[in-house]
Amino acid sequence: MNMLSHPMLPPLWQGGAARCIARHDETHDSASFTLASDMPARFDYKPGQFVTLAVEIDGQRHHRAYSISSSPLNTGSITITVKRVAGGLVSNFLLDNLHAGQYLEAGVTAGEFYLSEEACAGPLVMLSAGSGVTPVMAMARWLLALDAEASIHFILSARSEQDIIFRDELLAMQVRYPNFRLDLFLDNAEGQADRHAGFLTPERLDGLLTDAASCHFYLCGNPPYMAMIESWYRERALPADRFHKENFTPEALPAAEVGAQVFELAIAGFGKTAAIVDGQTLLEVLEASGVPLIAACRAGVCGSCKCKVISGQVERASTATLTEDDLSAGLALACSTRARSCVTVELLL
Ligand SMILES: Cc1cc2nc3c(=O)[nH]c(=O)nc-3n(C[C@H](O)[C@H](O)[C@H](O)COP(=O)(O)OP(=O)(O)OC[C@H]3O[C@@H](n4cnc5c(N)ncnc54)[C@H](O)[C@@H]3O)c2cc1C
Ligand code: FES
Repeated sequence: MNMLSHPMLPPLWQGGAARCIARHDETHDSASFTLASDMPARFDYKPGQFVTLAVEIDGQRHHRAYSISSSPLNTGSITITVKRVAGGLVSNFLLDNLHAGQYLEAGVTAGEFYLSEEACAGPLVMLSAGSGVTPVMAMARWLLALDAEASIHFILSARSEQDIIFRDELLAMQVRYPNFRLDLFLDNAEGQADRHAGFLTPERLDGLLTDAASCHFYLCGNPPYMAMIESWYRERALPADRFHKENFTPEALPAAEVGAQVFELAIAGFGKTAAIVDGQTLLEVLEASGVPLIAACRAGVCGSCKCKVISGQVERASTATLTEDDLSAGLALACSTRARSCVTVELLL
């Protein structure tokens, strides 16, 4: 029988109101929130994928993507882990306001950063810093819960011992699973003799990863950390198809072209037109035009800002989540697409 149509299985989660059924403070500035549906629903996702949340703050809706940190083996709920960003709107709102019993809106699970079938056989290197630990934690939790034999080398960087998200669980995993190796790098390792003191560097990576060519790499962290590891990987000519990364913060688009040619953007179905100046992204112009468009990551990662280019030339800096068919149909990610002529776009509402 087709599992998807099994009469005993609850239907797949399609997005909507989700209730926070548990909150667990992980560190002084991060917490995990477990979300579930009041209606029977099954969360089906791959370890490493994310969910887009919508929250209303002062009468305005905001969307943000959060990786699911729980293992997909539990299909009745998902857990996200949020770290406070200084001055950040949604992370502060969630950490200051979201408690068990409250509701928020969550979309369907999505994302291209997950363990490939080939990678599940290992060996695996999971590199993360700060809140970047969440998607790789989901991968490690899932593989270990399945009793997979793949070796996992989990290399995590944090500011100090108090900043290590999932600290106790990671230490317990290291004791329990012989195939799980943990290396913790602390900017401030005062009083922590069994941690690496200071930043992860290319030289330290060389020392830790003597058999890197045979490993599958999964990387998530802040932009300078990721740039350092990516250039280390490239310089050693390691296999490109074994390297996977996720950006939480917007990756720089090719620089805006101040004084670039002015084009016109027409928004089909809304009877609106607007000028595109200085090489603005389609998203910048659409938002300024006041049309409803979800942009959860603004980083060309989540796919939430998809729109259809009906006419005109565009340059796409990211095509993440878009299939060949999507591209042939003219779909583009508004946050990472710039016009190269006057264009007409249609929103996919
Ligand atoms: C696919 C994906 C998965 C994500 N998963 C997680 C997760 O598991 N846990 C988590 O805590 N966050 C995660 N994020 C980041 C999250 O979506 C928000 O960007 C983050 O919570 C900040 O939102 P904010 O509204 O608080 O800040 P904003 O008000 O949007 O931004 C405030 C300022 O902070 C900067 N900024 C934005 N995000 C970050 C960041 N992550 N680190 C440092 N500076 C930042 C902005 O450039 C801006 O200057 C993920 C992002 C993506 C794209
Ligand atoms: S907002 Fe996420 S891809 Fe554009």
